[in-house]
Amino acid sequence: MPRLHLNIDHVATLRQARRESFPDPIAWALAAERAGAQGITCHLRGDRRHIQDEDVKRLRAEIGTLLNLECSLAPEMVAIARDSGAEAFCLVPENRTEVTTEGGLDVRAELGRLSDVVPALSETGGLVSLFIDPDLDQLDAAREAGAPFVELHTGSYALATGAEREAELARLVAATAHARSIGLRVNAGHGLDLGNVGPVAAIEGVEELNIGFAIVARAVFVGVDEAVREMLAAMS
Ligand code: PXP
Repeated sequence: MPRLHLNIDHVATLRQARRESFPDPIAWALAAERAGAQGITCHLRGDRRHIQDEDVKRLRAEIGTLLNLECSLAPEMVAIARDSGAEAFCLVPENRTEVTTEGGLDVRAELGRLSDVVPALSETGGLVSLFIDPDLDQLDAAREAGAPFVELHTGSYALATGAEREAELARLVAATAHARSIGLRVNAGHGLDLGNVGPVAAIEGVEELNIGFAIVARAVFVGVDEAVREMLAAMS
C-alpha cells in the first residue's frame, strides 16, 4: 500500500478566512501524524491564499515525518523551497484564478526552466517530483527533465463516473507502468476521497498518495484522528 501524505492546505484556508491564528495547520499536521499519516504536504502559493511562509518554517521544525513542499517554477518559490529543508518538492503549475491546481505541468513545454530548477532543488538533497497528467509523452519529458519522481494527477479519474472512470483508472495504471519502465518513481494525488481512493492505492508501483481536501472536510465532522484512520483503511 502507498504511504499517505496529508496535504494540510485547507486547514490554513480556514484560518485565512478570518486572518486568525487558528486553526493551526501545524498542530493539525502533528495530530495527523499521530493518527498514522506518513508525511505532510503543503503548497506555498504565490498569492499566499492558504499556507504562509512561516507555516513552512514551523512545519519543518515541528513535524516528525517527511515534509513535501509543493511550489511553482517561479524563481521566488524555488528560492524559498531551496531554503526550506523539505525532503521532497513537488513542482506544480499555478494560475492565480484557479480554485485548486488544474491539470499537470506541461513538462515538455517547460523543459528549459526545469533544466535549471530540478538541479537547483536536487542539490539540497530533496527529492523532486513533477505533477503531471497521466500522459506518456509528459512522462518521457519528465525523464528528460531529470526528476526522480512524478506525481500523477488523479483529478480526471476522481471527477469521472462509470465507464469513463474505468478508462481514467486504466490511464493511471498504464502511466505508472510506463514511468517505472523508464526509471521514474511514482506518486499520485488530487481529488481522492474515501469512495475513489481504493483502486488508485491498489496500483502496483505507486509509492505515495497526497490527499488533502477530502480528509480536512471529513475531519470537520469526525475529527482529524478518525478522518486519517478512515482514509488509511480505505487505502488498504
Ligand atoms: N497533489 C497536488 C500536486 C496538489 O496540488 C494537490 C492539491 O493541492 C493535491 C495533491 C491534493 O489534492 P486534494 O486536496 O484534492 O486531495
